[in-house]
Amino acid sequence: MAVNPIASVLVVDDEPDLRTLYELTLLREGHQVVAAGDLAQARDHLAQQHFDVLITDMRLPDGLGLELLHALNAERRAEKCIVITAYGSAENAVEALKTGAFDYLTKPVDLKQLRAAVRAALQSQRARPEMPANAIGAHRHGQATAHLAAAGVGTRALDRIIGQADCMLQIKARIEKVASSMAPVLIAGESGTGKELVARAVHDCSHRAAGPFVAVNCGAIPENLIESEFFGARKGAFTGASQDRDGYFQAARGGTLFLDEIGDLPFAMQAKLLRVIQERRVRALGGVQEEAVDVRLVSATHRDLSALVASGDFRQDLFYRLNVIELRTPALRERTQDLPELVRALLRKLCEESGVAVPEVSAAALAWLQTRDLPGNVRELENLLQRALALSNGQTLEPADFGAQETSVGLPEKITPPAFQDTVTSTQVSADIPDDLQTYLDDQERQVLLKALKEADFNRTAAAARLGLNLRQMRYRIQRLGIAMPKDPAFDDADTE
Ligand SMILES: Nc1ncnc2c1ncn2[C@@H]1O[C@H](COP(=O)(O)OP(=O)(O)OP(=O)(O)O)[C@@H](O)[C@H]1O
Ligand SMILES: [Mg+2]
Repeated sequence: MAVNPIASVLVVDDEPDLRTLYELTLLREGHQVVAAGDLAQARDHLAQQHFDVLITDMRLPDGLGLELLHALNAERRAEKCIVITAYGSAENAVEALKTGAFDYLTKPVDLKQLRAAVRAALQSQRARPEMPANAIGAHRHGQATAHLAAAGVGTRALDRIIGQADCMLQIKARIEKVASSMAPVLIAGESGTGKELVARAVHDCSHRAAGPFVAVNCGAIPENLIESEFFGARKGAFTGASQDRDGYFQAARGGTLFLDEIGDLPFAMQAKLLRVIQERRVRALGGVQEEAVDVRLVSATHRDLSALVASGDFRQDLFYRLNVIELRTPALRERTQDLPELVRALLRKLCEESGVAVPEVSAAALAWLQTRDLPGNVRELENLLQRALALSNGQTLEPADFGAQETSVGLPEKITPPAFQDTVTSTQVSADIPDDLQTYLDDQERQVLLKALKEADFNRTAAAARLGLNLRQMRYRIQRLGIAMPKDPAFDDADTE
């Protein structure tokens, strides 16, 4: 299990419940936590004490969390700042990063992300104090998250790419070779094959490694915002643009801009992007002057871009510009020999994240995994392992933990899609389809667990019994879902297995 550095943390949020939740979460990590409800209180604490990490909500009763950041820059009363912004306000987040925030989290805050962000902040502080503040931003799946630390700190992305199959050795060699040039890279591959990991590796191996890595999900930005998100906007460009703000191109200056799901870029935007690439200059919305951009472009797609070009949905000229160097991430079925190594590495990662011991995997379970068809590739494998970890109660994962025998509730060998038209509307599926199934299921599970825990006065053993789980399964779920537990040792009664 990873050792977490201990830190002093100041948490600023005006919502008492949220403040307590963050506080408890960080206390459980062993940190020393001080909480404040507004800017004034936060300033008092900062005047009295130096903090390793400051976590602040953006909108506070007496001003913007950003103001604290300005003060910090001047006086250095805290080393690293993590800003919490409302969902969909990417511009605030970019602004925060530019002002020197280390990272930002989007509401509702995932406690696991909160813990990870604090850990990353502490690590980066120790690892390289001179790292530029605005190193990495990310905008994925409609949810904005920026990860400064992920690129520069810890293991290089290239080393995190697992696989000894020829095709993997080739791709790793090519990454190192092409990294140093400015040429645009297009990464093509099925979903879950590690396109983003490869993009980070290209950045990491390049001389821009110390600069920002900004990841943008091209399909997740509303069309009416896309231009200002990419190129920035000058004050007064549109209603609500009350001050100048930068876009992703400016945020990635000196680093790498990762255009994920480039195939989803709206057609109108494709022409604008092409122009920027050709001229290497951007003009912010409502701006008069163009500014030079020094950005390396890496794009990725799980769709067949040449087919999109053929069907007229993707501009051919843009395709040629982006596809100067093509890297193809192979599907898992093209490299089954890598499976055992991947399983071990992914298990290690998952267990480390949730603080449980890494189990063995039986030969039978491995053999069973080898026979699976995994269209979601490494990501799907990761999900399977996560599920098995939650179900298993032994030291070794067996085929049954993967649902191998249960044909009814387990994973069927082959899913026959229902005849589409009428069936969908006539079944309950039409009720409410969540945007993200996993998040939805996690929320449901979290609610049930919390209810059971509360009713059992946070005695995990009792709550587990109520839900037909054993303690190990319960602890795993609590960790995975980031459920904050009271730190009081009196609650930890029967928790030694
Ligand atoms: N070769 C690999 N070695 C180790 N981990 C990998 C590898 N490939 C993918 N992963 C892991 O699998 C998950 C999915 O990878 P990633 O997000 O890079 O895939 P992707 O191709 O961008 O998928 P999508 O098309 O679904 O966005 C991540 O957790 C990543 O770390
Ligand atoms: Mg991806």
